[in-house]
Amino acid sequence: MRVLGLETTCDETAAAVVELKASGGGLILSNEIYSQTAEHAPFGGVVPELAARAHVEHLDVLMDRAVTGAGLRYGDLDAIAAAAGPGLIGGVMIGLTMGKTVALATGKPFIAVNHLEAHALTARMTDNVRFHYLLLLVSGGHTQLIAVKGVGDHLRLGTTIDDAVGEAFDKVGKLLGLPYPGGPHVERKALTGDPQRFALPRPMLGRPNADFSLSGLKTAVRLTVERAGPLTQTDVADLCASFQAAVVDVIADRTRAALKAFREKVGAPEALVVAGGVAANESIRRGLQRLAQAAGLKLVTPSPALCTDNGAMIAWTGIERLRLGLVDDFAFAPRPRWPLDPDAERALNGKA
Ligand code: KG4
Ligand code: ZN
Repeated sequence: MRVLGLETTCDETAAAVVELKASGGGLILSNEIYSQTAEHAPFGGVVPELAARAHVEHLDVLMDRAVTGAGLRYGDLDAIAAAAGPGLIGGVMIGLTMGKTVALATGKPFIAVNHLEAHALTARMTDNVRFHYLLLLVSGGHTQLIAVKGVGDHLRLGTTIDDAVGEAFDKVGKLLGLPYPGGPHVERKALTGDPQRFALPRPMLGRPNADFSLSGLKTAVRLTVERAGPLTQTDVADLCASFQAAVVDVIADRTRAALKAFREKVGAPEALVVAGGVAANESIRRGLQRLAQAAGLKLVTPSPALCTDNGAMIAWTGIERLRLGLVDDFAFAPRPRWPLDPDAERALNGKA
């Protein structure tokens, strides 16, 4: 079984072909990506209109390269999968329309993929992780703790009530005059900094639910910067280290709370899985490793290239759905908002 996957929900244009291995995991036959980071950098964030234009410009070429690079023709594919949300509407429309068009032209099944589910299922492609497991998804747009129980079967145990973790890293980077996106730069500066120099808050620590709140921490960094006056390189490094240490503590505490909820609501998890761009952060990985070890759990972190947005995760989710007969028709509309667990979303919004 071989599926083409298209990803266009944010600022990465990506196409990949993945094959189902006899052992159950996925073999990535090709994985093409065009990162638009440089185009958005002058604006300090993703500009939706620029993103949509870049997707249009690059998607067809990347898709062709993914298919030929896999040593295939379009007719050899078993299905076409495209991310249908959540994400920026312009990009989602482009990938979804392209996916439907190729499916129509080849007569192959079409599969509309939830981008968040794709992050959630990546560990099954890379490490053959069995259901049920706890997923910590930490990226620039998302911060969620999810019990992944099966394909299309997810229970959200926690989410951020304000900023995403990556967003907080990026805002702190901006405050300290570091290039965009700030996350990797904050981590690099933190290497030489003193994590104890600034006493920053750990929001939500000890709360029984597994929700996150990052905006207070970001504000505390801003106030510290304002109070300190002109910053020396040492100040910047110490602030980065202190901020990162606070984030590590918050993530460990919130994940611990989610593990407890998981055991109560679902049972014993098979693994703790981390995904999203922030999962590239070594301190956060080490913090989660300590937590997993204490809980007697295996920690699974797909490689950074597969933790961040990519086409392979969409193709893999296509495989997972295709083998269950879960295909979609051409009426499937783009979903800029598409929660993995609609019940949790309704509860958070006070509608349930
Ligand atoms: O998953 P991703 O590539 O894109 C989405 O947001 O969907 O994640 C990007 C985010 C950015 O906020 C970036 O600053 C953050 O991940 N990030 C990091 C690190 N590398 C990337 N944050 C902290 N430490 C890092 N090493
Ligand atoms: Zn993503």
